[in-house]
Amino acid sequence: MARKPIIAGNWKMNNNIAQTKALITDLIPLVADAKCDVVICTPYTSLATAVEMCKGTNIKVGAENVHWAEKGAFTGEISANMLVELGVEYAIVGHSERRTYFGETDKTVNQRVKAALAAGLKVILCVGETLEEREAGITAEVVRRQTKIAFTDVAKEDLENVVIAYEPVWAIGTGKTATAQDANDTIKIIRDLMAELYCPKCAENLVRIQYGGSMNAKNASELMAMPEIDGGLIGGASLKAEDFNKVVHF
Ligand code: 13P
Repeated sequence: MARKPIIAGNWKMNNNIAQTKALITDLIPLVADAKCDVVICTPYTSLATAVEMCKGTNIKVGAENVHWAEKGAFTGEISANMLVELGVEYAIVGHSERRTYFGETDKTVNQRVKAALAAGLKVILCVGETLEEREAGITAEVVRRQTKIAFTDVAKEDLENVVIAYEPVWAIGTGKTATAQDANDTIKIIRDLMAELYCPKCAENLVRIQYGGSMNAKNASELMAMPEIDGGLIGGASLKAEDFNKVVHF
Protein backbone atom coordinates (compact mmCIF):
# COMPACT_ATOMS: atom_id res chain seq x y z
CA MET A 1 0.00 0.00 0.00
CA ALA A 2 1.54 3.31 -1.07
CA ARG A 3 1.58 6.10 1.47
CA LYS A 4 -0.42 9.11 0.28
CA PRO A 5 1.67 12.31 0.32
CA ILE A 6 0.53 15.07 2.66
CA ILE A 7 1.48 18.73 2.32
CA ALA A 8 0.56 20.91 5.30
CA GLY A 9 0.98 24.63 5.83
CA ASN A 10 1.87 25.93 9.26
CA TRP A 11 0.91 29.58 9.26
CA LYS A 12 2.38 30.14 12.73
CA MET A 13 1.37 33.57 14.16
CA ASN A 14 0.42 35.04 10.79
CA ASN A 15 -2.78 36.16 9.05
CA ASN A 16 -5.69 38.00 10.58
CA ILE A 17 -9.24 37.14 9.46
CA ALA A 18 -9.16 39.33 6.35
CA GLN A 19 -5.82 37.83 5.28
CA THR A 20 -7.12 34.35 6.05
CA LYS A 21 -10.10 34.91 3.77
CA ALA A 22 -7.92 36.26 0.96
CA LEU A 23 -5.39 33.44 1.14
CA ILE A 24 -7.96 30.65 1.28
CA THR A 25 -9.99 32.22 -1.54
CA ASP A 26 -6.87 32.08 -3.72
CA LEU A 27 -5.86 28.63 -2.54
CA ILE A 28 -9.12 26.73 -3.08
CA PRO A 29 -9.13 26.69 -6.90
CA LEU A 30 -5.35 26.30 -7.15
CA VAL A 31 -5.13 23.12 -5.09
CA ALA A 32 -8.50 21.62 -6.08
CA ASP A 33 -6.85 18.97 -8.28
CA ALA A 34 -4.08 18.06 -5.81
CA LYS A 35 -3.09 14.41 -5.71
CA CYS A 36 -1.87 14.71 -2.12
CA ASP A 37 -3.66 15.52 1.12
CA VAL A 38 -3.66 19.30 1.69
CA VAL A 39 -3.85 20.79 5.19
CA ILE A 40 -3.59 24.36 6.46
CA CYS A 41 -2.86 24.93 10.14
CA THR A 42 -3.91 28.40 11.20
CA PRO A 43 -3.89 30.49 14.36
CA TYR A 44 -6.86 29.76 16.65
CA THR A 45 -8.51 33.05 15.68
CA SER A 46 -8.67 32.01 12.01
CA LEU A 47 -9.90 28.46 12.52
CA ALA A 48 -13.66 29.09 12.35
CA THR A 49 -13.25 31.11 9.15
CA ALA A 50 -10.94 28.52 7.63
CA VAL A 51 -13.24 25.60 8.47
CA GLU A 52 -16.25 27.40 7.02
CA MET A 53 -14.44 28.35 3.81
CA CYS A 54 -12.86 24.91 3.28
CA LYS A 55 -16.12 22.96 3.68
CA GLY A 56 -16.73 20.96 0.51
CA THR A 57 -13.16 21.49 -0.71
CA ASN A 58 -10.12 19.21 -0.51
CA ILE A 59 -8.40 21.45 2.04
CA LYS A 60 -8.37 20.21 5.63
CA VAL A 61 -7.92 22.56 8.54
CA GLY A 62 -5.62 22.14 11.53
CA ALA A 63 -4.71 23.98 14.72
CA GLU A 64 -1.11 24.69 15.70
CA ASN A 65 -1.33 23.24 19.19
CA VAL A 66 -3.81 21.56 21.53
CA HIS A 67 -3.95 21.11 25.30
CA TRP A 68 -4.04 17.69 26.97
CA ALA A 69 -6.81 18.30 29.48
CA GLU A 70 -10.48 18.10 28.56
CA LYS A 71 -11.21 21.33 30.38
CA GLY A 72 -10.26 23.25 33.49
CA ALA A 73 -8.04 25.95 34.89
CA PHE A 74 -5.53 26.28 32.04
CA THR A 75 -5.71 29.94 31.14
CA GLY A 76 -4.99 30.58 27.50
CA GLU A 77 -5.18 26.95 26.40
CA ILE A 78 -7.57 25.21 23.99
CA SER A 79 -8.81 21.62 24.35
CA ALA A 80 -9.10 18.98 21.65
CA ASN A 81 -12.88 18.87 21.99
CA MET A 82 -13.10 22.61 21.43
CA LEU A 83 -11.26 22.11 18.13
CA VAL A 84 -13.39 19.13 17.13
CA GLU A 85 -16.53 21.14 17.83
CA LEU A 86 -15.29 23.80 15.39
CA GLY A 87 -14.78 21.20 12.67
CA VAL A 88 -10.99 21.20 12.89
CA GLU A 89 -9.43 17.90 11.79
CA TYR A 90 -5.70 18.21 12.58
CA ALA A 91 -3.49 19.60 15.33
CA ILE A 92 0.24 20.19 15.20
CA VAL A 93 1.92 18.95 18.39
CA GLY A 94 5.46 19.50 19.62
CA HIS A 95 6.60 22.10 17.12
CA SER A 96 10.16 23.17 17.91
CA GLU A 97 8.96 26.73 18.51
CA ARG A 98 6.69 25.38 21.26
CA ARG A 99 9.55 23.30 22.66
CA THR A 100 12.00 26.23 22.54
CA TYR A 101 9.87 29.21 23.59
CA PHE A 102 7.04 27.67 25.62
CA GLY A 103 8.66 24.91 27.64
CA GLU A 104 7.14 22.01 25.73
CA THR A 105 8.75 18.72 26.80
CA ASP A 106 8.69 15.21 25.37
CA LYS A 107 6.25 14.32 28.15
CA THR A 108 3.78 17.14 27.46
CA VAL A 109 4.03 16.35 23.75
CA ASN A 110 2.95 12.80 24.52
CA GLN A 111 0.06 14.06 26.67
CA ARG A 112 -1.11 16.34 23.86
CA VAL A 113 -0.83 13.59 21.25
CA LYS A 114 -2.95 11.22 23.36
CA ALA A 115 -5.60 13.84 24.12
CA ALA A 116 -5.87 14.89 20.49
CA LEU A 117 -6.27 11.31 19.28
CA ALA A 118 -8.79 10.49 21.99
CA ALA A 119 -10.94 13.40 20.81
CA GLY A 120 -10.73 12.25 17.19
CA LEU A 121 -8.19 14.74 15.87
CA LYS A 122 -5.35 13.77 13.57
CA VAL A 123 -1.93 14.82 14.81
CA ILE A 124 1.07 16.30 13.05
CA LEU A 125 3.84 15.44 15.50
CA CYS A 126 7.03 17.47 15.11
CA VAL A 127 10.47 16.15 15.98
CA GLY A 128 13.93 17.39 15.07
CA GLU A 129 17.39 18.18 16.33
CA THR A 130 18.98 21.58 17.05
CA LEU A 131 22.19 22.70 15.39
CA GLU A 132 24.22 21.87 18.52
CA GLU A 133 22.73 18.40 18.64
CA ARG A 134 23.49 17.86 14.97
CA GLU A 135 27.06 19.05 15.39
CA ALA A 136 27.45 16.79 18.43
CA GLY A 137 26.47 13.85 16.21
CA ILE A 138 23.38 12.97 18.24
CA THR A 139 20.65 13.62 15.64
CA ALA A 140 19.55 9.98 15.56
CA GLU A 141 19.47 9.74 19.35
CA VAL A 142 17.42 12.95 19.67
CA VAL A 143 14.77 12.14 17.06
CA ARG A 144 14.47 8.59 18.36
CA ARG A 145 13.95 9.83 21.93
CA GLN A 146 11.42 12.48 20.90
CA THR A 147 9.49 10.04 18.73
CA LYS A 148 9.54 7.18 21.23
CA ILE A 149 8.25 9.30 24.09
CA ALA A 150 5.62 10.98 21.89
CA PHE A 151 4.16 7.57 21.02
CA THR A 152 4.05 6.22 24.58
CA ASP A 153 0.66 4.52 25.03
CA VAL A 154 -0.45 5.31 21.48
CA ALA A 155 -2.19 2.26 20.01
CA LYS A 156 -1.32 0.73 16.67
CA GLU A 157 -4.86 1.53 15.51
CA ASP A 158 -4.02 5.22 15.80
CA LEU A 159 -0.90 5.15 13.65
CA GLU A 160 -2.74 6.30 10.56
CA ASN A 161 -3.97 9.31 12.53
CA VAL A 162 -0.50 10.58 13.31
CA VAL A 163 1.73 12.21 10.72
CA ILE A 164 5.30 12.72 11.89
CA ALA A 165 7.06 15.88 10.73
CA TYR A 166 10.85 15.75 10.83
CA GLU A 167 11.89 19.37 11.19
CA PRO A 168 15.58 19.98 11.87
CA VAL A 169 15.47 23.11 14.02
CA TRP A 170 18.43 24.71 12.22
CA ALA A 171 16.51 24.55 8.93
CA ILE A 172 13.37 26.32 10.15
CA GLY A 173 12.94 29.82 8.79
CA THR A 174 16.65 30.03 8.00
CA GLY A 175 16.59 29.32 4.28
CA LYS A 176 18.87 26.35 5.05
CA THR A 177 17.26 23.11 3.92
CA ALA A 178 18.58 19.73 4.90
CA THR A 179 19.88 18.01 1.79
CA ALA A 180 17.29 15.65 0.39
CA GLN A 181 19.60 12.76 1.27
CA ASP A 182 20.09 13.91 4.88
CA ALA A 183 16.36 14.42 5.35
CA ASN A 184 15.68 11.02 3.85
CA ASP A 185 18.29 9.34 6.06
CA THR A 186 16.89 10.81 9.29
CA ILE A 187 13.33 10.02 8.28
CA LYS A 188 14.46 6.42 7.67
CA ILE A 189 15.80 6.36 11.23
CA ILE A 190 12.37 7.45 12.47
CA ARG A 191 10.61 4.86 10.31
CA ASP A 192 12.92 2.11 11.56
CA LEU A 193 12.07 3.11 15.13
CA MET A 194 8.36 2.92 14.32
CA ALA A 195 8.96 -0.60 12.97
CA GLU A 196 10.60 -1.51 16.29
CA LEU A 197 7.85 0.11 18.37
CA TYR A 198 4.92 -1.26 16.33
CA CYS A 199 5.60 -3.52 13.36
CA PRO A 200 7.58 -3.30 10.11
CA LYS A 201 4.42 -3.35 8.00
CA CYS A 202 2.81 -0.60 10.07
CA ALA A 203 5.91 1.57 9.68
CA GLU A 204 6.02 0.92 5.95
CA ASN A 205 2.31 1.28 5.16
CA LEU A 206 0.68 3.46 7.80
CA VAL A 207 3.23 5.94 9.08
CA ARG A 208 3.56 9.08 7.00
CA ILE A 209 6.63 11.20 7.68
CA GLN A 210 7.00 14.75 6.39
CA TYR A 211 10.05 16.93 6.08
CA GLY A 212 9.86 20.55 7.28
CA GLY A 213 12.36 23.39 7.30
CA SER A 214 12.65 25.97 4.52
CA MET A 215 10.78 23.70 2.13
CA ASN A 216 9.49 25.77 -0.77
CA ALA A 217 8.44 25.92 -4.41
CA LYS A 218 12.04 25.41 -5.55
CA ASN A 219 13.16 22.46 -3.46
CA ALA A 220 9.90 20.57 -2.93
CA SER A 221 10.21 18.26 -5.93
CA GLU A 222 13.71 17.12 -4.99
CA LEU A 223 12.68 16.43 -1.40
CA MET A 224 9.45 14.70 -2.41
CA ALA A 225 11.34 12.45 -4.83
CA MET A 226 13.07 10.74 -1.87
CA PRO A 227 11.57 7.37 -1.01
CA GLU A 228 11.11 8.01 2.73
CA ILE A 229 9.70 11.54 2.49
CA ASP A 230 5.91 11.48 2.43
CA GLY A 231 5.17 15.18 2.54
CA GLY A 232 6.09 18.56 3.85
CA LEU A 233 5.27 20.88 6.73
CA ILE A 234 5.62 24.32 5.22
CA GLY A 235 6.08 27.56 7.16
CA GLY A 236 6.97 30.70 5.22
CA ALA A 237 6.06 29.29 1.81
CA SER A 238 2.54 28.44 3.01
CA LEU A 239 1.68 32.14 3.41
CA LYS A 240 1.50 32.83 -0.33
CA ALA A 241 -1.06 30.91 -2.36
CA GLU A 242 1.17 30.58 -5.43
CA ASP A 243 4.13 29.28 -3.45
CA PHE A 244 2.10 26.84 -1.38
CA ASN A 245 0.37 25.62 -4.53
CA LYS A 246 3.72 24.88 -6.15
CA VAL A 247 4.70 22.75 -3.17
CA VAL A 248 1.32 20.97 -3.29
CA HIS A 249 1.99 20.24 -6.97
CA PHE A 250 5.57 19.09 -6.30
P1 13P B 1 9.77 27.34 7.34
O1 13P B 1 9.19 26.60 6.16
O2 13P B 1 9.40 28.77 7.38
O3 13P B 1 11.25 27.08 7.48
O4 13P B 1 9.08 26.70 8.64
C1 13P B 1 9.05 25.32 8.78
C2 13P B 1 8.20 25.00 9.94
O5 13P B 1 8.53 25.26 11.07
C3 13P B 1 6.90 24.38 9.67
O6 13P B 1 6.33 23.93 10.84
